[in-house]
Amino acid sequence: MTAPPVPPDAPVGVVGAGTMGAGIAEVAARAGHPVTLVDVVPGAAQAAIEKTLGRLRRDVEKDRLTQAEADEVAGLLRAGDSVEDLAGSRIAVEAVVERLEVKTDLLGRLEELLGPDAVLATNTSSLSVTAVAAGLRHPGRVVGMHFFNPAQRMRLVEVVRGDATDEAVVEATCELARAWGKTPVVCTSTPGFIVNRVARPYYGEAQRLVEERVASPATVDAVLREAGGFPMGPFELTDLVGQDVNLAVSTSVWQQTFGDQRYAPTVFQQRLVDGGRLGRKTGRGVFGYPDGKASDADPVTEPRRGAPASVELVIEGEYRGFSVMAPFLDRIAAAGVRLEEVPADEETGSDAGIRLPGGAMLLEQQGDSATGSWGEGGAVILLDWAHDPATCTRVALSPSPDTPEESLYAAVGLCQAAGAAVSLLADSPGGVVARTVAMLVNEAVELVTRGEASAEDVDVAMLLGTGYPSGPLEWGDRLGALTVATVLDRLHDAFPTGRYRAAAALARSVRAGVNLRDL
Ligand code: NAI
Repeated sequence: MTAPPVPPDAPVGVVGAGTMGAGIAEVAARAGHPVTLVDVVPGAAQAAIEKTLGRLRRDVEKDRLTQAEADEVAGLLRAGDSVEDLAGSRIAVEAVVERLEVKTDLLGRLEELLGPDAVLATNTSSLSVTAVAAGLRHPGRVVGMHFFNPAQRMRLVEVVRGDATDEAVVEATCELARAWGKTPVVCTSTPGFIVNRVARPYYGEAQRLVEERVASPATVDAVLREAGGFPMGPFELTDLVGQDVNLAVSTSVWQQTFGDQRYAPTVFQQRLVDGGRLGRKTGRGVFGYPDGKASDADPVTEPRRGAPASVELVIEGEYRGFSVMAPFLDRIAAAGVRLEEVPADEETGSDAGIRLPGGAMLLEQQGDSATGSWGEGGAVILLDWAHDPATCTRVALSPSPDTPEESLYAAVGLCQAAGAAVSLLADSPGGVVARTVAMLVNEAVELVTRGEASAEDVDVAMLLGTGYPSGPLEWGDRLGALTVATVLDRLHDAFPTGRYRAAAALARSVRAGVNLRDL
């Protein structure tokens, strides 16, 4: 088929008038299409349209729309009685229950009803578009059009190419998404598509960090927000979305990858779900919500300590021991702490970094535990990464168990003098931010090098779909492929399950000196 572009005034059909279908119908009508919305439950489509009319009224009250514009959109929305009412639509978007046989059956009926050049789009978030299309007479016209909740507000749409989808259908769907004010990204029908795939470690690593007793959930959240630059911590976010919903996505990706450890769900989350601790909707998830506000969500934060007036900065040649966190070193110096440069002593094999009062070294997190970071067995404190070390408001420190109190207090005081709150972590490879970010970058690199999506689309998808402070590939390029690969290799040594295996392309990027975005 040719799949010519869907004209701006072409009739659109939406099946399923729940959360997503209602939003999609509204988006299409606001873009000027006559929209017919149907649902298997009598009255559901009309009720959904009433809600949209309410939103239009509020937009008029707030001067976001004129009365004439609102009337026009309202006039474009129509509730149908059955799928037969969608005959004549140029595109049908289905947003019905997430069950393969229901969707396949529905698309089969739509195929008979709609013209030969009509696009059949599925809003599935976890099923294979290839499987949804299989069995149709013309599977080439089936495409994934994965909106994000709330569809009215979220700009991202993942346009998912099933194995049989015609390229012209992909293009027409992207063009339509743009006409609807959305930003389309294209991916193959890979488990989790882009966003739900690349984001897996954001939740999975956090849950493992708590299982391993590295930090409390509130501390992991605070470190990822205030050092990592993420808009929400993984625990508050999964409490909002629902622990059951997040576990279902993880389980689905894990099953679709035949039990790949990289996507394995955790016992931690299964226990939450078993106990009915689903998050805000049940009043309790990881945190409690006695009166709507989260309780026990306070991170562990160190009390105020004095900063030493000066510390030794051990340098190896030009290297001052901090690369990712180099700007944080400048903040310490700007706070008035003298960094006295001394060359590394080759005989004792000392590393570049800060020698603290009490004898311990403050080093940058590079994937090891503090205990494993110092060849000579001396005490070490590791400084975890920040997304923007020049402005971050919190940092995490992992001291080796033999760290003298004097050194620990000095390290805390230095970071506080630089203007950051400090969370202490139990000693574990990769800290919180370095471990999480290395895994996000790795997942993004794998997706791109397997040809599932372009580097640009992966970064755009994660920025718009999750609000991460940087696209993972751009972040990876900023860190350097070698740094990311080193963290992963050390995690892999510590936890040899295969979960932390570095994508082959990371090594290729290091060897060829090519950016991850240009591989
Ligand atoms: P929902 O439960 O709010 O709505 C589903 C609607 O479909 C219900 O009104 C139901 O009565 C109707 N329905 C079920 N079977 C039908 C059939 N055979 N014919 C017509 N109507 C039928 O579900 P929601 O959340 O809107 O999800 C719908 C789809 O969108 C699912 O495939 C889901 O995976 C996907 N999705 C959901 C997102 C979310 O955040 N809720 C985000 C992106 C995609």
